[in-house]
Amino acid sequence: MISTMPKHFLSITDLTKDELTKVLARAADFQSGVKSVQGTNQKFALIFQKPSLRTKVSFTVAIAELGGHATFFGPEEIGLGSRESVADIAKTLERYVDCIIARVYKHETLVELAKVASVPIVNALSDLEHPCQTVGDLLTIQEYNGSLQDSSIAFIGDGNNVASSLAMGCALMDIKFTLVCPKGYELPQAIVKSIEKIAGVNTEPITTTQDLQATVANSDVIYTDVWISMGSEAETNQRLQNFQEFQVTHSLLDTAKKETIFMHCMPAQPGREIEAGILDHPKSVVYRQAENRLYAQQSILELILK
Ligand code: NVA
Repeated sequence: MISTMPKHFLSITDLTKDELTKVLARAADFQSGVKSVQGTNQKFALIFQKPSLRTKVSFTVAIAELGGHATFFGPEEIGLGSRESVADIAKTLERYVDCIIARVYKHETLVELAKVASVPIVNALSDLEHPCQTVGDLLTIQEYNGSLQDSSIAFIGDGNNVASSLAMGCALMDIKFTLVCPKGYELPQAIVKSIEKIAGVNTEPITTTQDLQATVANSDVIYTDVWISMGSEAETNQRLQNFQEFQVTHSLLDTAKKETIFMHCMPAQPGREIEAGILDHPKSVVYRQAENRLYAQQSILELILK
């Protein structure tokens, strides 16, 4: 059990390597059928500015498993920062609940919530990061590879929220991370700086390349995500053009090592980042990856609320 946890979980870097290792170990307990002993009847508000399937249901079920209660507010309901100010919402919700789980367009909204709220804020996806996804993903990689040690991940797509959290999570856990993307779609500079800080000056924590074939042949994990994240829809035509050489196809996956796995945080858009049928490819672990979100979330919530 972890004794020191950050009050808020906005970034994967809110955890130390030791804490993340323990979160993953506890998540593996839940994965193997261990039940939480918490049962403290805690209350949670989920405020989501964007649509959600896996994150919403895995948090809701995780909260039920922990003996708590969830109230969900969808994109049209609260008017975060429009109908009511972010500060007023934080100062009101904390009167009813023990934790606020938020999915937002702008990461700064989470920072603003965290500044004001006296209860923990959990990032359920922002434009910058998706740290809960990373915990589930590392749990999945650990499960299939036997351990995280010596794993290598190829992320094919832009340096988006999922890639950023995963790249920083990999830096924390000493995993080799390669981003395969067209020029101009690399990880944000702030994320690269944070990775360099975690990894120290003597190592090369991340590689960015356009060489899809060579990277796929040398990686234990092939990961992709949508080319157009929620909030980037205005760039659709440009992105479809720029990313067309970066699709994960059957023939590409067939060139990977026998034990290599394929991951996708989903939702997927066949015909864009993946060829139709890839989610059911023998290398695909995407549905187990989705299931693992539940165990990851149970572990994160249990520890944050201890
Ligand atoms: N990068 C995607 C992840 C969806 C879970 C998005 O932000 O839309």
